[in-house]
Amino acid sequence: MQGIQIIGMGKALPARRVENEAFTQMVETSDEWIKSRTGIQSRYFCKEERQMDLCAEAARKALANAGVCPEEIGLCVVATITPDYHTPSSACMVQKLLGLPEDIPAFDINAACSGFVYGLEVVSCMLGSDALKRPYALLIGAEKLSRIMNFQDRSTCVLFGDGAAAAVIRPSDAHRFFCRLGSQGNAEALNAPGAGYPEPYIHMDGRKVFQFAVHAMENGIRLLAKETGVSLDEVDQFICHQANERIIRHVQKKLKLPAERFFMNLDQYGNTSGASIPIAMAELMEKGQLKPGTKAFCLGFGGGLTWGAAYLEF
Ligand code: UT7
Repeated sequence: MQGIQIIGMGKALPARRVENEAFTQMVETSDEWIKSRTGIQSRYFCKEERQMDLCAEAARKALANAGVCPEEIGLCVVATITPDYHTPSSACMVQKLLGLPEDIPAFDINAACSGFVYGLEVVSCMLGSDALKRPYALLIGAEKLSRIMNFQDRSTCVLFGDGAAAAVIRPSDAHRFFCRLGSQGNAEALNAPGAGYPEPYIHMDGRKVFQFAVHAMENGIRLLAKETGVSLDEVDQFICHQANERIIRHVQKKLKLPAERFFMNLDQYGNTSGASIPIAMAELMEKGQLKPGTKAFCLGFGGGLTWGAAYLEF
């Protein structure tokens, strides 16, 4: 089966960085609580920036790093739960801002924090289709979560951040790709009602989502190893959704794997939902840790409740 190759990535963050200390002015919390319960130290919030601006900046960097022109893009997908508009989609706005061709599909995916992994599967299927006239896909994970956060709710407002990252992807016979996705309709553990509904903010039962997360991650890793035949010792990077250091550490210890193979940057960015996995991936790439031959497992989990597990070769 044809695989895919990520040939360039780029990330974009808003200019405003907010430290934990700032929340002590808004709610009853402390830097110590936030750090010890989550691992988060700071995050970025948009001020003037639109979500589509973050998408476009990340996409431009990814295209430059890949050496690909906008005219060569055959598919544009954005994984997000915080588009600027219900319609047009963020993908259509990226198309406009970057001047992508007009005879290509452009659409958003709503799978919350699993969105980028869902996007990888969608892109891998569509890149094999005759319907695409050009060889490359642009996949972006982007969020402006500050728009749907309740800054009077201490159980959620300290957790999230804004940001985006993009990947330029091409089909490849030399790079295996394997993905499994799941969901369980559940609005009790995590929801964010749309505009016009009362309290259109993120509501979360943190403990329930925590329990779902550790199971989804552990099961996803075991499933990928079984289905791909790639043993856990062979995996160079476990690129996990960056929600909570304790979730990642729990899974890493349960599977008795070395901590250094579980990249973490949530201390700087908080939980950026659909952007968290691609931002982590873009940073690993910047650091030269996704070299040719690198094998990675990507694990996403979040609202839906959704989960996604993908095997990628670099
Ligand atoms: O990306 C979507 C996926 N989301 C996630 O993966 C989030 C998963 N869940 C978590 O990461 C954790 O459950 C949280 C970080 C959200 C919460 O940590 P926890 O250890 O599960 O805390 P808790 O909800 O059980 O709350 C413990 C205590 C409570 O007080 P009482 O009832 O024990 O008196 C909370 O009211 O901590 C209190 N609390 C806070 N205290 C200070 C909750 N938020 C805060 C806060 N500052 N910001």
